[in-house]
Parts: sequence; structure tokens; C-alpha cells
Amino acid sequence: MTNPIALAAERLRAGGVVAIPTETVYGLGADARNVEAVRRVFVIKGRPANHPVIVHLAEADEAGEWAGRIPTSARRLMARFWPGPLTLVLPARDDVPRVVTGGQDSVALRVPHHPMALALLRTFGGGLAAPSANRFGAVSPTEAQHVRASLGNAVDMVLDGGSCQYGLESTIVSLLDEHPRVLRPGALPMRALREALGNVGIDADGGAVTPRVPGALSAHYAPATPLEIHAIEAITARAEALLGQGLRVAVLRRNRSLHGKPLLPALPQFLLPAQPEAYARCLYARLHELDRFAFDRLLVEAPPDEEVWWAVNDRLERAAVGSAREGAAHPISRS
Ligand code: TXA
Ligand code: MG
Repeated sequence: MTNPIALAAERLRAGGVVAIPTETVYGLGADARNVEAVRRVFVIKGRPANHPVIVHLAEADEAGEWAGRIPTSARRLMARFWPGPLTLVLPARDDVPRVVTGGQDSVALRVPHHPMALALLRTFGGGLAAPSANRFGAVSPTEAQHVRASLGNAVDMVLDGGSCQYGLESTIVSLLDEHPRVLRPGALPMRALREALGNVGIDADGGAVTPRVPGALSAHYAPATPLEIHAIEAITARAEALLGQGLRVAVLRRNRSLHGKPLLPALPQFLLPAQPEAYARCLYARLHELDRFAFDRLLVEAPPDEEVWWAVNDRLERAAVGSAREGAAHPISRS
């Protein structure tokens, strides 16, 4: 039997599209120098052409083939966190295909640490453009079966590397100059970034890509089941109102004591771990699973408004905003 890594590399060299496991989420990979192949990734995802994609590399040494300039802070972060769940946005070289950069003059780079992703990148011998392997706006896949269920025959091959270790996308840091800016909170915690950068300040307002103002949040990461985020104290009343409208409602909450505030006994309840890393690892898989039950509304207990929960809160809020378009009237209320 042919080794799946060798087979995947062959498909990629032929301009094919291969779903790849990474430690964050599954990616939809194509040869980043092959414009037609990258275009197919956009078509399969239904992704607008002006959204840039991350170029995945086997080694930090390859960054110079894509980035025109690598600031000192970027070198420090690469040395510390690559391979790993950190993406760096750097000034792009002129020869980077525009389909990869979405027409911008910057390029996003990452060296993943999943062993299959690294083995594939080494065998392929070049950069792989890979957005998350989901349809545009939907929840990212953290298992091979999520990719098969949503993209099925549209991809040339799905490499099965098991469940993703982090279950949440990489942290994206822009380093277009020496001043780091977090564009997307993610699997690499802020604490780790701060430790590595020492006294270099990090702009963590989320920048233009990840505005935290709920009204300005773009819909994204949305499951098929519309979801709302509420403080645990408010869930029973909200559930009663929705049940009164004849809707099928479920609750997704953290696995911890409710401190004497029990929920309606008849409400179906699903649990996620109480700690942020474990919660993040399970969140997308839970949302994929819950979609199969076809509830009308999912009431999600609001995680704490703390920095360690930033990435989780960001994804949940975007999912809720996506849901609001489907008729969830009050998608986010934390009090
Ligand atoms: O963990 C991850 O990052 C996964 C795995 C597969 O590596 N990939 C991923 O890709 O999440 P995607 O395409 O779903 O999200 C990448 C984000 C997009 O929001 C895109 O706009 C942003 O990165 N991005 C890519 N290139 C950029 C650039 N040059 N400047 C600013 N943002 C960029
Ligand atoms: Mg994505």
C-alpha cells in the first residue's frame, strides 16, 4: 500500500487539494505557488477571493522565501513557538502569488507541529496554502470525519491525523513593523506571547481582523444550530421563553457546580470541560455533534470574561452573531 504522506504530496504536486491535520484544526491544503490549485481551495470553501490564506512551511528557514523582511520580534517568536500554533503576518515578497495574500502586501506564515503536517510539508518540499477545511463561515473541523461530512468528494484526499490537539485556530500576530499586533486570539495563549516578547508591548485589541465590539463582529465559525450566549443565571428564563414559542432548546455549559442555580430539569444539557484549554479542545467537536440533533436553539453558558478565555469567547461571539441572522434575537448577554 502506498504511504498516505507520499500519495498526498504527489496529489499536491499535481495541483490537487488535500485536507491536512494540524495541531489546531484541519486545513485545506494546496501548493501555495500554484495559483490554479489555491483558487480551487477558495471554490471548495466558498471563500471570497479577498480573504488571504496562511502559508504553511516545514521550517522557519523557509520564511525568507515568502517574507520580504523579518523583524527581530518575529525572529524571536519563530525561534520560540515554531513549530506550533502561531501564525505571523509579515511583509510579503513581490513574487508571492496574489491569490495567497488576497491582494495585500503581507503574507501569513506558520510552521505547524502536527507530525503528519510536518512530514507532508517535508515530503512536498514547499509552502502549502491552507485555510481551515470548512465551508466559509462554518465551524472548523477538528477531526477527519468533520471534513468528510462537510466537503466530502470536493477534496482529492483527506489525511486522517486524529483529533486536533488544540481544537482552535492558531493565534495570528501581525509584525509588519517591530510592533506586534494580535489579529486573532487563538491556541497560543497571550501569556506565552508576552513572556517571549519581554518588554516589547503587544497590541491586543484584536485589530481590524478581530474587532471585539459585538455589533461589529463578522459572522463566522457558526454551527448550523443557532446559538445564544447567556450568563448561567439567565438561561432558565430564556429557555422558558423559547420553549413557549415551541422551539427545541438545548444547553451547552461548563462542567462544574451550578451553585444551587439548577436549570430546568427537562432541558437537554451538554457539557464542556471547565478549564479553557480543555474547553477549546472540545468546543468545535461538540458543535459539530450537536448539529446532528437539529435543535432549534443552543443556549451556551457565557465563559468568564477573562484573557485566558479570549479565543473561546471570540469564536462563540462570532458564532452567535452568525446565528442572529438566522433569527436568534438576543445572541449575546453576559449579565
Ligand atoms: O490554525 C490555523 O491557523 C488554521 C490551520 C489550518 O493552520 N488555519 C486557519 O486558516 O485558521 P483560515 O484561513 O481559516 O484563517 C486564517 C486567517 C483569516 O482570517 C485570514 O484573513 C487571516 O488569517 N490572514 C491570512 N493572511 C493574512 C494577511 N496577510 N494579513 C492579515 N490576515 C491574514
Ligand atoms: Mg477558517
